[in-house]
Parts: sequence; C-alpha cells; structure tokens
Amino acid sequence: MSDSESRKWLKSHHDTLFPFLPHLKRRGISWLFERIMERGREKGAVYVHIPFCRGKCTFCILTKEPPVDTSRYVNMLLEEARAWSDYFSPVETLYVGGGTPTSLSPEELRLLFNGLRDAFHIEKDAEVSIETTATELTEEKMNLLAELGVNRVSVGVQTFNQGLRQLLGRRSSVKEVIKKLNSAREVFPLLTIDLLYDLPGQRKRDLIADLQIATGIGIDGISLYPLIYSPRTVIARQFKPPPLEMAMDSFRTAKSFMEDNGYHHININHFSNGRDEFRYSTYFNSLGNVLGLGAGATGFIADCFIKHPSKSEEYSQDRDRDRDRDKGRVGTVFNVPEKLVPALWCVSQIQYGRIDIEEPRRRWGFEPLEAFASTIEKCVDRGEMMIVRNILELTTEGIFWANTIGAEMAMEYLYKGRGELLSLEDNLSKIVSRVMPGKIRSG
Ligand SMILES: C[S@@+](CC[C@H](N)C(=O)[O-])C[C@H]1O[C@@H](n2cnc3c(N)ncnc32)[C@H](O)[C@@H]1O
Ligand code: SF4
Repeated sequence: MSDSESRKWLKSHHDTLFPFLPHLKRRGISWLFERIMERGREKGAVYVHIPFCRGKCTFCILTKEPPVDTSRYVNMLLEEARAWSDYFSPVETLYVGGGTPTSLSPEELRLLFNGLRDAFHIEKDAEVSIETTATELTEEKMNLLAELGVNRVSVGVQTFNQGLRQLLGRRSSVKEVIKKLNSAREVFPLLTIDLLYDLPGQRKRDLIADLQIATGIGIDGISLYPLIYSPRTVIARQFKPPPLEMAMDSFRTAKSFMEDNGYHHININHFSNGRDEFRYSTYFNSLGNVLGLGAGATGFIADCFIKHPSKSEEYSQDRDRDRDRDKGRVGTVFNVPEKLVPALWCVSQIQYGRIDIEEPRRRWGFEPLEAFASTIEKCVDRGEMMIVRNILELTTEGIFWANTIGAEMAMEYLYKGRGELLSLEDNLSKIVSRVMPGKIRSG
C-alpha cells in the first residue's frame, strides 16, 4: 500500500481542530464576558449566521432550516449584537453566512444591516460580505444589498455542469446562474463564488470548464472545495468518493489553470485575482477576534471558541434561559488552555499554506520546528513542505494535504503522534465518542 493510500485525506479545516477538543475547558458566556470586560473595546470581525434555506441540496453539510418566523429571528440576533456593542469595536469585516441569508425578505435584510450598523462601529472601508445562491439573488435584492453597504457577494455555484447540478440538487439552471453572476458583477465591487471538485463522475475537463466560465465572468475570488462525503448527506449514501489520485490530479490541474489565468492562492481553498482579500478568513486563521451571532455561529474571542446552538429554536431558548445574568449574550464557551494557544495558532495558519516560524517564537517563545519536528520532516521528505527563510511553506502537494498536515501537527504535539485522525466524513457517533462534550472538561 502506498503512503498516500494509507493516509487519510482531511478535507475540512474543522478536521484540524478535532484533536484540540478534548483539551478545551467548558465555561459559561458570563465567564468570558467578565474576562473581556477588563480588556475594553477591541476591534474584530463579526460573523452573522442566518440558518434559513429553501434548498434541498443532496450534498449540504450545513445545519439549516426552512425560513419560518424569520423576522423574530432577526430581532433576536440584533438583541444579541447590542449586548456586545460596548465591547466590540471597530468592526473591520462583517460576514453574513448561512444557510442562505438572502432567503430573508427585503424588509428583514434592511432591519438586519441597519441594526448591525447601529450596534457596532463598522469601519467605512470594512469588507461586508454575504453568502447567497443564484436562485435567491433577485435584481431587487442585489440593489438593496448594495444600498445596505454589502461590497462582497459570495455565490454558491458548486458547478456550472447541468448534469452535476442535478445530482447536487441545485435549483437554478446553468443559464440562470451565469445571468445572475453577470448582473452581480455590475452591482458589487467584489464577486466571489464557491466551486466543488471530487464530485461523483466529475471529469477533470468538467472542472476546468467550470473554472473557464468563472474566470471568463471575471469572478474576483474562487473558493474551490473538495466535496465532503458526510454520512449525513444523501449524496454520500449513493456514491463513494472518486479515487484519491483523481482528486490530486484535478487539484493540481485546477491550481495551475488558475495561476495561468492570473489568480493566486490566498488560502488553501481560495484563489484571488488580486482584488479579493477575503479579510474575514484571515481573522479566523490568525485567532483574531471573531464575534459570532445567531444560531449555528461559532466565534473566537480571548482564546475561547464560542459555540451557538445550531437551531433557531434552541438559540431562542438559550437566550431566554438566564437573561438577567447573560444580558442576551448566547453560547457555550470553550477555553483553549494558555499553553496550547501557540500550537493552535500554528495549526490554524496552515490554512494559508504557510507558517511564519518567527511569529510564535517572538510571541510565546514557542518553537514550531521542535513541536512539530516529525511531521515537518515527513512532509519535507514527501515534497509537501519547504523551509524558506523561517517560513514553513506548503508546495502544491502540501496544499492538497494541508488539513491532514494540520491535524498531524496537532496529533504530534498533543498525543505524541498516536491516535487516529478524525474527519467530517466519519460517522458523527465516532466523532462524538472521541472528542465531543462528554470529554471536554468543565472549568
Ligand atoms: C452556506 S453554503 C453556500 C451558500 C448558499 N446556501 C449556496 O448553497 O449557494 C457555503 C458553502 O459550503 C460548501 N459546502 C456545503 N456542503 C459541502 C460539502 N458536503 N462538501 C464541501 N463543501 C460543502 C458549498 O460550497 C457552499 O457553497
Ligand atoms: S448548499 Fe446552500 S442552498 Fe443548498 S441546502 Fe445548503 S445552505 Fe441551502
């Protein structure tokens, strides 16, 4: 068996965090709030989650629910925003994700953006992004979003291939998607899309045809994700993932096509034509302040992950549970022990395809070359990593394996390399039994 056959290909950045979960300390939201009160106002990123969606995509791993009682939800979310407003400012980047946020009505979108601007000082040149699908992106909504200050729109295209779109359960035709993207190109300064590879039956030439259409439209940023065959999805029950060699070959070809067309990697899944900075992602990958708002949102503040309940009804109940004490702030806090922060930082940096070794040395006296010595040596031997002037730099092969490499680094540091890597493609029961709340210590 070759090395790549026995090695698990991890496709999601979540997979790199699983090894850390048993080490986190569970706390209440008021514990975190007291901790940050002393720090005063801090700048950061705000992530807003709108869990509603009318789609029935066969591949979707996101938690979503039908759009019911949406205006009550927006009002709850704004109440949560206001509870943070004295401690979180200015906001450099706002990201509204989902679900499909544009499933909100025009009035609700107006209420949401105006309410967020009342709650926070959002910088004049802030990156303000929203996720959408072609089906939901009407002309009226495009104009409204632009008026509300949205300057970066991310459309989940997945593929322009009609047969594959049907397999994925996508609702719009290829023609409609292209028409909407061309209109959005006129309205928004930054237009980005999500595309998928490693789809059942997708040939390399289908993927390149997708990229040709995207670059032809002049898309600024292209997120290219491998399909995660989560056991929770319809598609994974019908199809097995294509052979690994095929995925590698597709990725290599796609990357060189993008580079030949003037795009470059700004993180392991995202290509930019130089205009799209995707500032929001840089916050998460550098353990910067990210305030998550709404059901299903995850934030990171003061070395703590803040996880919200995934369903809007649970979100509402959580908010009402101890309102006098928590003042409308919601979520369970998972504190990263101080001694693990530098390792988590290095593993998170893998999302850029490079780690600056000097930074953890300077900030924490932490030596990545010792902490991850064995993983680095193996990656260099395989041609996945180079050490260039104090930068650990992933090669094209390394970028393909980046999440696996991140998880291997974490396993080396935390468990001396022993134990099995977990992924979103595993059964939930396996993930839960290994890492989830039962094993997370209460502080
Ligand atoms: C919230 S969704 C996108 C917004 C919108 N609802 C849509 O479908 O166009 C964010 C992205 O997650 C990605 N995604 C969802 N399920 C996935 C899976 N099983 N594997 C890989 N990426 C997935 C898709 O590329 C999707 O565009
Ligand atoms: S991929 Fe987007 S449109 Fe499809 S079900 Fe998921 S959130 Fe909804």
